[in-house]
Amino acid sequence: MGSSSVAAAAKLEVRPIAGSLGAEVVGLDPAVVSAVADELIEALNEHLVLFMPGLDPTAEGLRDIAATFGPLEVHPYLDKVDPEIPEVIVLDTSTTPKADVWHTDFTCSDHPPVAALLHMVESPPWGGDTMWINCYEVYHSLSAAMRQFLEGLTCLHEDTRNGGAPAAEHPVVRVHPGTGRKSLYVNKQFSRRIPQLSRPESQNLLSFLFRWEEQVKFSCRWRWNVGDVVLWDERVTLHSVVDDTSERRVLRRSTVLGDDPTPPDDAKILPRHRTPKTASSGFYGIGGYEF
Ligand SMILES: [Fe+2]
Repeated sequence: MGSSSVAAAAKLEVRPIAGSLGAEVVGLDPAVVSAVADELIEALNEHLVLFMPGLDPTAEGLRDIAATFGPLEVHPYLDKVDPEIPEVIVLDTSTTPKADVWHTDFTCSDHPPVAALLHMVESPPWGGDTMWINCYEVYHSLSAAMRQFLEGLTCLHEDTRNGGAPAAEHPVVRVHPGTGRKSLYVNKQFSRRIPQLSRPESQNLLSFLFRWEEQVKFSCRWRWNVGDVVLWDERVTLHSVVDDTSERRVLRRSTVLGDDPTPPDDAKILPRHRTPKTASSGFYGIGGYEF
């Protein structure tokens, strides 16, 4: 690292905003973001979500900040802010559905996002906050017996908005490559089935995990102002908009790709469950109904 970036790093001031995750980076100049990328990654590894109030970059600036963290997504169909800058999309509540279910973005892909950046362009006068959840804490709050049970399980993730495609299989418990820490990696939007379990077992376990991970104590919440930028680690968080306003909300977004949730040792994955073919195998006494 050069002396100029050391000087810039000295200005990086990080203030936690909640007990579980999330921190505000105060007084950051968009022009020096690439110079303090290592410090931002360190802060991101510690706080999982970084809020940069009033950063207000241009679309090109948002793309350049995102590109500091890895290769960027070019979304196949969502609106671009500028055809010359296809890495930055527009999320406008007047045209795009609100993502008001707890989720991690696009886990139905074999290589889901590593990180994402949102830039608030038009904010409602109140409401429309975004919340995030710390999936390390979710995992570590489970009993030792449950954590041990989840090891070796995978989950099938599907995009049901699109007929189940794409689809991918990821470990239920993953290890963050930067921190070496374990976190729970299932979410209500995309996670469908745990193939090592029978369908009733899978459905009940996923229902429990979704309820468990959506506890407020694992969350932080951001009240947006125009110009704010938020950067978060997709690998270890869930997020959801608070759908409490009909006012228009316009954001720009850039997504960093390159994640690989496959565990280092595939051999630890347990064998798949084979459903017995019987006429009355219904766990709840409802015949052959498939969950
Ligand atoms: Fe999302």
